[in-house]
Amino acid sequence: MIKPSELTWDDVVRVGPGTLGGNYLRCFWWPVALSEEVRDIPVPVKVLGEELVLFRDLSGQLALLGAYCSHRRASLEYGRIEAQGIRCAYHGWYYDRQGKVLDRPAEPIKAAPNIRHPWYAVRELGGFVFAYLGTDKESPPPFPRYDVLVQDGYRVAERGDDEAGKAYNCNWLQGVENTTDTTHLTYLHGIYERCAIFKPVESEYGVKLYILDPRSKPNCVALRKRCTVLPTINRKSREPRPKSPDESPVTLQQAIWIVPIDDTHCEEMRLTVYPQPPKERSYHGAYVDQAKQRERKPYDRRFYGEIRGIVPLEDKAMVESQGPIVDRTLEHPGYGDRAILLLRKMIREGIAEVANGGKPKGVLKEDLAMIDLDIGVEEFEIDRVPEGVKDLLTELQQQLEHV
Ligand code: FES
Ligand SMILES: [Fe+2]
Repeated sequence: MIKPSELTWDDVVRVGPGTLGGNYLRCFWWPVALSEEVRDIPVPVKVLGEELVLFRDLSGQLALLGAYCSHRRASLEYGRIEAQGIRCAYHGWYYDRQGKVLDRPAEPIKAAPNIRHPWYAVRELGGFVFAYLGTDKESPPPFPRYDVLVQDGYRVAERGDDEAGKAYNCNWLQGVENTTDTTHLTYLHGIYERCAIFKPVESEYGVKLYILDPRSKPNCVALRKRCTVLPTINRKSREPRPKSPDESPVTLQQAIWIVPIDDTHCEEMRLTVYPQPPKERSYHGAYVDQAKQRERKPYDRRFYGEIRGIVPLEDKAMVESQGPIVDRTLEHPGYGDRAILLLRKMIREGIAEVANGGKPKGVLKEDLAMIDLDIGVEEFEIDRVPEGVKDLLTELQQQLEHV
């Protein structure tokens, strides 16, 4: 039996097949592409250190196969899509959606039942294509229909590749620790005036965060609920300020998956649900151009130059500056980092659980129509706080005296 405390940091952060961390991450479904990207040509995909090719065959069915042809390793990203699968552009080997070799034009025996090309299970929902890379891919665990994927509203799915920004040149855990970290919202981004008052709680799906929101109405208290859904989803709501007095305020629901590309790169897949189609929407990656246009002092030798005021760049600079894989043995985390410490504990427990032959927390045992993650802001008049949240709010307010 492996204990969570026996795992090295290397065991925790590595993503490749056969690593302890990689085995854990392979228990979950991952968004690997936007639905709209998968059209009439193959899409190269790199996830959890594996190079793959995603496509829809001519019957419209999705397939995800190993990128390198089982014949002599040419990439199937140049392959020709056919009725039941894809044909390698080099010598014409033809694969079905489950990696069976149906045809080899240069061979007297066309099929090759002894060769099974790598393939994975795929699903499409909410504007994304999701893949399951576990060894039990023939019977994957139920797909988790998180609220944002199925609830009413207008969905916008975005990815954070190099062009759009929010692809991080560092290990995935640094990305998730950043989205779980409420303390930096005040200091790095200047969103709050003082350090957030919060309580992290271990929940069924991950780290639930209860935050005392300082932007409540007079004589009211506001409780903000967010969650880091294991292993890497940041689930929150946003209430952008109306740009003009005649605009009514809206609440956006959001989920951000940090998707490990390999040990030292990860990418954001971002889903936003608007109540109505928005009149205007700035593309998330717009900040990249904003950063490029910024004048740089001739003596500024810092990698990204001035980052202040460009929120996504502030995040990117912080997590990448920790190094491709941060050395956590040199850290001194404290009270303000307790959500991150809880996240690390839960991930370690999950990795040990998988290493010992079990299923980690967050993997569904049965199919659910929807998973309500209970996210958003609730506001109460001070003298009318319901019993159910009284203790929690009292505890949070007591923190005000100490932090
Ligand atoms: S390398 Fe693909 S058919 Fe030869
Ligand atoms: Fe941030």
